[in-house]
Amino acid sequence: MIEDIEIINSFEQRISEYAGSKYGISVDSGTNAFFLSLLYLKKQKILKDGDTLTIPSRTYLSIPMTIKNLGLNIKFEDMKWNGCYKIEPTNIYDSAVRFTKDMYIKDSIFILSFQYRKHLSIGRGGMVLTDDKNMAKWLEMARFNGKHKNINRWIDKFEILGYDMYMTPEQASRGLILLNNMKRKYKIIKKVRKSGTSLAVNIPQEIAEVMKIKEGELIELELRKIR
Ligand SMILES: Cc1ncc(COP(=O)(O)O)c(C=O)c1O
Repeated sequence: MIEDIEIINSFEQRISEYAGSKYGISVDSGTNAFFLSLLYLKKQKILKDGDTLTIPSRTYLSIPMTIKNLGLNIKFEDMKWNGCYKIEPTNIYDSAVRFTKDMYIKDSIFILSFQYRKHLSIGRGGMVLTDDKNMAKWLEMARFNGKHKNINRWIDKFEILGYDMYMTPEQASRGLILLNNMKRKYKIIKKVRKSGTSLAVNIPQEIAEVMKIKEGELIELELRKIR
């Protein structure tokens, strides 16, 4: 029998391997991945009440709201960003709309979203990628009502007050399936790129549809030729 925690562990491991981070801690949304990351920085006294964080004027509304909810201030900047942006002066990156291999930036805190309109569209869910073992351990407890990851709740000795922000095994298993499909998709894209432009005229419709996902300029160019 597969235990719930094994599915969660497996999903976290696969995503962190794909992204290039040491740890991946799943949660119930990208917003809450951001919330818990900010909270951790406050607990570490890296941030304090009233500090100002700079974010793009155009981003998802939960980002400024989460900052305010945690007693921090916002400076909006009219910046252009593509897929991922850094939240100064922290080392947090909001990568809710970027999901590519090796996307993780060393020693950063990387926020992912698996909301239904994102690349890995589980429906709802998020993850924090980090290289920091202490942060990973804190997040594992914080997202699951203070529970330690591999200890039965009846004998667990709680260290912190946690939050109810965990990912369910059902969501994690859907994530594993989607990740597999995504890998297959990228294999096709890679093959097409390798074969050069002349291949485009023979691309079957199904593959063309797969490639419609904005993966890169070359693929876009190929697609334009066959539309
Ligand atoms: C740029 C950006 N950041 C953060 C989020 C929040 O992610 P979630 O919807 O998983 O809470 C979103 C999602 O919609 C987003 O587009």
